[in-house]
Amino acid sequence: MRLSPASPVCGIRVEGLDVRDLTAADQPRFVDLLHDNKIVVVPGQALGPDDLLRFGSMFGLLQHHVLQQFTLPGYPQLFVLSNEVVDGRPLGHANEGFGWHTDMSYMRQPTAYTMLYALKVPAVGGATWFTDTQAAWDALPEERKALVRGRFARFSYGRMYGARTGATPLTPEQRARTPDILHPIVRRHPVTGRHSLYLGGIEVAGVSGMADEDGVALMKDLLAFATRPERVFRHEWKPGDLVIWDNRGLLHTATEYDRSRYTRTLYRTSIEGEVPQGWAA
Ligand SMILES: [Fe+2]
Repeated sequence: MRLSPASPVCGIRVEGLDVRDLTAADQPRFVDLLHDNKIVVVPGQALGPDDLLRFGSMFGLLQHHVLQQFTLPGYPQLFVLSNEVVDGRPLGHANEGFGWHTDMSYMRQPTAYTMLYALKVPAVGGATWFTDTQAAWDALPEERKALVRGRFARFSYGRMYGARTGATPLTPEQRARTPDILHPIVRRHPVTGRHSLYLGGIEVAGVSGMADEDGVALMKDLLAFATRPERVFRHEWKPGDLVIWDNRGLLHTATEYDRSRYTRTLYRTSIEGEVPQGWAA
């Protein structure tokens, strides 16, 4: 195995590894790599759906996405991101993941780790961007730290979903699974103990102890701070790339590509995390 930085800001690239060869004995070292670097990029994989789910399940409980209509048939834990249409049926979701976010932040136990595996990618565009929210917390001016320590942000799946034009209305079951939820703005990593800014985009509906408008404005300011261009790692996909990230210290976003020219299909699976812990001295 050869390890090298994936970018100057965060992430590590692991070459010479076929993740199908990993066993439970290798898992702790892999998790350490992930916690230390937030993102692990493993290029050159040849994974089927079962391989990806086997790999994912080494790290915890696989999550079921709210929008089950976009999972691979027979694989409720494997979400398909795709703009391909086969026999009139979309292969997956074409508009998921745009805008800075952490995965399933609108759930009581948001995603810990996300695994994304590229099958088809555009020659140009469609990168995934990441920013290190632990580094952003460390760099935050002290008066801002004092303002947000101990506060909670309200995350709303309904608000996020409602902002999508042309989306099918949520079913009563989907709505029942996604009530608004409060999470600490300053989040403590359950293993490393490092603090990060736990932020979001359109799904953020307010902040505890503030008028909603002011809370949303504060969260937007923090997001702009955390996502300054110099903090961003842009992963340009190649087919066969497997990228694993730790949502407890990151934000990420999909970026656009020319959908009329290119197809882009990725498989995603994700691991349930803990109820986020707040700041602790
Ligand atoms: Fe995402």
